[in-house]
Amino acid sequence: MVVDGFFGDTGKGKVAAYLALADKPALCVRTGAPNAGHTVTLEGQQHVLRTLPTCFVNPGTKLAVAPGALIKIDVFLSEVERYGRGRSYVDFNTGVVEDIHVERERSDEFLMKVVGSTGQGVGAAMVDRVLRRLRLARDFEVLKPFLADVPAMIMENKRNGVVIEGTQGTFLSLYHGTYPYVTSRDVTASGILSEAGVGPKAVDEVVLVFKAFVTRVGGGPLPGELPPEEAERRGWVERGAVTGRPRRAAPFNMELAKRAVLLNTPTQIAITKIDAVFKEAAGKTRWEDLPPEARRWVEEVEEEMKVPVTLLGTGPEPHHMVDLRREKGRA
Ligand code: IMP
Ligand code: MG
Repeated sequence: MVVDGFFGDTGKGKVAAYLALADKPALCVRTGAPNAGHTVTLEGQQHVLRTLPTCFVNPGTKLAVAPGALIKIDVFLSEVERYGRGRSYVDFNTGVVEDIHVERERSDEFLMKVVGSTGQGVGAAMVDRVLRRLRLARDFEVLKPFLADVPAMIMENKRNGVVIEGTQGTFLSLYHGTYPYVTSRDVTASGILSEAGVGPKAVDEVVLVFKAFVTRVGGGPLPGELPPEEAERRGWVERGAVTGRPRRAAPFNMELAKRAVLLNTPTQIAITKIDAVFKEAAGKTRWEDLPPEARRWVEEVEEEMKVPVTLLGTGPEPHHMVDLRREKGRA
């Protein structure tokens, strides 16, 4: 499984896409909801997925949406059409976000102005789910052809590889994040597993994804936040994949990362955008070819976290990756 160790947008989508190409899993399961955009860049073109897993990049991988996830039907259908025709599934129990939820959320001043919600109706739909009045995938005729028992699919495909794609980030977790500046679900490893319908003993590898710097969109604390001009100067200003809002930025934070390790029990760590901090790392795929400062920094992170750092992102495409899993005994 792939989990985000900061505030979302660490590049989980790219890491999951890389794993799909490198490991050729039989199945990939997406958790979360359409407030989260997972980005993958292929031959220079950006693809933002809000429902299907970015593992679509491997045409042999089946794509499923978890029972604890939420979908918007139009987004699901258009992503199936574009990325997953003939190999997409949605669990019977997956929740459905409807227009009323979007309206309700967008008229909530606290959520929109203080928390900085993406306004996708996800929180409002979760409220309805807790109140047991949310409609589920099984209630919609148009979803009938895609309905599946996703937890059963996971166990059936386990031998041939299953990737579970987490969503958002550890510090946006409803339980473990910077409440109330959080999203409407638990997005730590255990929350993701619960959404997918898998127990912790069935999981072989928990990949915790950090970015070489920290970003956050919306309200809430961001330790070490840089003034926008400084973030700009460093080339660290990104935009929200769903809302287009500029992301706030800060340098990598060891304390935050350690807390994410404590909350997620990773077996390995991925760090993306190494090239945004160490420019000469751009596009490299071998450890030996990384600049010495980058290698030293990665070793320092590994020492502090006491978890092997196995995947290093060096550019936007899935194959811009240094993969140390074999060397470090995690493959
Ligand atoms: P909501 O979950 O859309 O209500 O947003 C609540 C908070 O989580 C806001 O600060 C959002 O910016 C943040 N958030 C929600 N989804 C994502 C995401 O996918 N990436 C980054 N931040 C997110
Ligand atoms: Mg994102």
